[in-house]
Amino acid sequence: MLTSGPSIPRPWSRTEGYVEENEDGVELEVTGVSPQGMGTAKKGVELYDVRGAVPGDLVEAKPVGVRGGRKDAIVIRRISESVSRTEPRCEHFGVCGGCQWQDVVYADQLKLKRDMVVECFRAAGIGDVEITEILGAEDVFYYRNKMDFSFGWSRAGELSLGLYEGAIQDGETVSDNPKHHAPPVFNLQKCWLQSEASNLIVAAVRESLSDTGLGPYNPSGRTGTLRSLVVRDIKDTGDVLVNLNVARKIHAAGVAEAATRACADVKGLVQSVNRKRSRNAVPRLQETVFGQDRIVEQILGLEVQLSATSFAQVNSRQAERLYRHVLHEARLIGSERILDLYCGAGTMSLLLAKQAASVTGVEVVEEAVQDARRNAERNGILNSKFVCKDVLDFFRGKVPEVDVVTVNPPRAGIYRAVLNAICRMEVERIVYVSCNAKTLARDLVGFKRKGYRVGHVQLVDLFPHTHHCEAVVSITRGRS
Ligand SMILES: C[S@@+](CC[C@H](N)C(=O)[O-])C[C@H]1O[C@@H](n2cnc3c(N)ncnc32)[C@H](O)[C@@H]1O
Repeated sequence: MLTSGPSIPRPWSRTEGYVEENEDGVELEVTGVSPQGMGTAKKGVELYDVRGAVPGDLVEAKPVGVRGGRKDAIVIRRISESVSRTEPRCEHFGVCGGCQWQDVVYADQLKLKRDMVVECFRAAGIGDVEITEILGAEDVFYYRNKMDFSFGWSRAGELSLGLYEGAIQDGETVSDNPKHHAPPVFNLQKCWLQSEASNLIVAAVRESLSDTGLGPYNPSGRTGTLRSLVVRDIKDTGDVLVNLNVARKIHAAGVAEAATRACADVKGLVQSVNRKRSRNAVPRLQETVFGQDRIVEQILGLEVQLSATSFAQVNSRQAERLYRHVLHEARLIGSERILDLYCGAGTMSLLLAKQAASVTGVEVVEEAVQDARRNAERNGILNSKFVCKDVLDFFRGKVPEVDVVTVNPPRAGIYRAVLNAICRMEVERIVYVSCNAKTLARDLVGFKRKGYRVGHVQLVDLFPHTHHCEAVVSITRGRS
């Protein structure tokens, strides 16, 4: 029997207003993409987020709600389209909040991503920077090595384990703001992004918890228990590590048994306890329920040991292409001292260290820094050092003299104060790895103003079927 939950208030997320029930469809020319992956359009003074549309589409869309001063709309019909469309493979397409471009043929997804980056650079006033063709992925399904499945309430008010709904239905909008009601979670049957093993594990864990009476955690009211199930799998070996995230410790032996019965390659199951609002906060407690608490993967010949919560690029094969390009752009001859800012668990730092005199990595998450140090030891890399600090604080202290700086910040890009501090180091070369073209373009403008020359931008697709894209660019001293 499934635990029954509270009735879902409708709308279940913040809606600042409704459009008239009978508001007609409007013709919209889609020109951009919202941070959530919806098409964006402007008509008169009205701004729209249009689900199911991509830049270049001309659609008739029906407004269904208002949020943040923008109208949410759903496509009624496409009048003309800019891309070739294909039958999505996933049975959850249109309901699931991920893979919003799965109905666009892959070659056109790549074109759209590049166009978006080009537009960001044009809007920032640096349209003259060369942007190369994007390096597309060979595997566009089952490419992820990690997925985070959520516990929540289904629309029917039952405990569910799967992914957040992203579909807009009349009178409802999706809010990513954790202060508001969480979107419903649908019970995932089959996701095409990670592996068949992870689908089996999700189904088995859901079943094992269904008659326990445990409900999903609500950080606002601090009620409930279950947060998420993170499955990490290594493509080369098939090894799987499972992390059950909860707000209060549970007796999890049954969950471990279910997961191992579903997949013999599960090497360990960890329970992480976190009652904070953010699901990504460092857990208060972590216990190994079964087996090992880390697994190992190979990245360009480097053995990278990953704990349940440490950061790693989720598409290992494409990450290798990205790192190869970083190494190429760093142009190392072996004598360089490198500063790697926002280094995560140190994968990129250690690859750089193999070709340089020394590397200092800076990272704010303690566990990631510990992973980085362990991985250095594991690989016999003696010329690397990792500092656990906020990058801003790092620059407030004594900064080592280096020849090359590499940066790989989160989506927000780098703080102005950090950019200024990097420029004060007067290094010859900076290699910037970015997952957000908008903040990358802003930061490149900052470097240009400080007298740096921006090289070409290499794009790499780590996230097929989504609007995300990684970029690598080298920045050198002296104006062009
Ligand atoms: C995109 S990841 C870097 C990945 C890494 N280069 C790799 O190859 O695996 C960004 C990292 O920046 C860290 N971070 C975010 N804000 C930070 C800050 N203010 N100071 C230091 N590290 C930060 C995050 O914890 C995360 O590990």
